[in-house]
Amino acid sequence: MALRRVELGVAERLLYPVVPAVITAEHRGRLGAMVAAWWMQVSFTPFMVAVAIAPERYTYKLVRGSGVFGLNLLGAEHLEKLSLLGDVSARFMRDKVERSGLRVVRGEALGAPLIAEAAAALEARVWRVYEAGDHDIFVGEVAAAYASEDFADGMWRLERYRPIMYLGRTRRPGPVRRVYVVPEAFRRVEVDYAPGDLRRYAEARRRLLDDLYRAAEEARDEAELRRRVEEIVSRHGLEPDDVEPLLEEARRRARARG
Ligand SMILES: Cc1cc2nc3c(=O)[nH]c(=O)nc-3n(C[C@H](O)[C@H](O)[C@H](O)COP(=O)(O)O)c2cc1C
Repeated sequence: MALRRVELGVAERLLYPVVPAVITAEHRGRLGAMVAAWWMQVSFTPFMVAVAIAPERYTYKLVRGSGVFGLNLLGAEHLEKLSLLGDVSARFMRDKVERSGLRVVRGEALGAPLIAEAAAALEARVWRVYEAGDHDIFVGEVAAAYASEDFADGMWRLERYRPIMYLGRTRRPGPVRRVYVVPEAFRRVEVDYAPGDLRRYAEARRRLLDDLYRAAEEARDEAELRRRVEEIVSRHGLEPDDVEPLLEEARRRARARG
């Protein structure tokens, strides 16, 4: 099928569906909660998440002020609460969180406000804030995570937790509507990691990473690390300009391991 050009004004909706989160924060006795579709994991070690929040949001002020936020995932049974949390600002409705009917509990690690009814909740400490267009990206290091019993053996049981998916909002002149998709049932598909012919390529990469991470652990200084990475790049038959990015990968590994 041929691609056809899509107007940039609606291109945002190409990126959906996204499971929206509820971002919670508290500062100087004021509690906030807002919906955010623009969030993601950005690091394994340390475990970090990022969320884009516009300065206009009341929650923005609370996250900036406290340096802590909660990231909560609500199941489809709470869909109707997203209108209050995502269309109304606590700047104009002071008791917005109370009126949502959701209960707020404190996280054990940072005391972040979290939603008791959430299927999952993370407590994060703001690590850095990056300005990006009309939103700021808050990158937070996750200090603790919580989940309902729908999360078992390290994975979601999607026959119980039904995530909400956001498809975007319709535009004027018609009525503005937020469009969601709620799954009736999921079909679980399990696929081998790098199956069949792909295995040997995945293994070559694994061997490279093993060498790189060993060097990161053993090198006593930057000069030695660089020498070892140059040697690894040549031994694995890679391109000379692979040295810099792989050296950076090794540095970050060394940093993450402390
Ligand atoms: C599905 C959905 C997704 C949203 N995603 C974001 C987002 O990623 N970032 C953002 O700043 N606002 C987002 N919003 C808008 C805020 O949730 C909204 O402006 C909210 O009223 C802010 O509340 P507050 O002023 O009390 O913090 C989203 C709203 C909805 C309904």
